[in-house]
Amino acid sequence: MSNIEQTLSIIKPDAVERNLDNEIKEIFKKNGFKIVQEKKIQIEKSEAEKFYKVHETKPFYTDLCAYLASGPIVVMILEKDNAVLANRELMGATNPKDAKENTIRKKYGISIDKNSVHGSDSLDNAKIEIDFFFKD
Ligand code: CMP
Repeated sequence: MSNIEQTLSIIKPDAVERNLDNEIKEIFKKNGFKIVQEKKIQIEKSEAEKFYKVHETKPFYTDLCAYLASGPIVVMILEKDNAVLANRELMGATNPKDAKENTIRKKYGISIDKNSVHGSDSLDNAKIEIDFFFKD
C-alpha cells in the first residue's frame, strides 16, 4: 500500500556556497523524490530562530540560527512514499562523522553544524516546516 508523504528539505549555506545544490537535487530525484516546490532564499536571523524554535534551549541554538541565516539556502518540498523517513535515511546521521556511506551528509557534510542538509524529523513537523516556508 502506498503512503505518499511530503517533507521539507533545506540545502544549507555550506552546500549552496560550494555550488552543490544542483548535485544534491539530482540525488533526491535519483532516489525517487519529486521536488514539488523549491526556492533559493536567504532568511533573516529572526526567521531562523522561529524555524529552529524546538532547539531553543540547546547550547548550539544561537550559532545554529546565525548559521542558517548566513547565506543562501534552497528550501524544497519533497514528495515520495514514506518521504519523511526516506529523506532522513538519505541524509544520514546529523553528524557527518557518523553518517553511513552513500548518504548526503557523509558525502558533503563538513561538521555537525555544516552538515549540508536539513530534513523534517516527523510528519507533524514536516507539515509545520512546509507551511513555514511555503504558506503565502
Ligand atoms: P538539522 O537537521 O538542521 O537540525 C538542527 C541542527 O542543529 C542539526 O541539523 C545540526 O546541524 C545542528 N547541531 C549543532 N550541534 C548539534 C548537536 N550537538 N546535536 C544535534 N544537532 C546539532
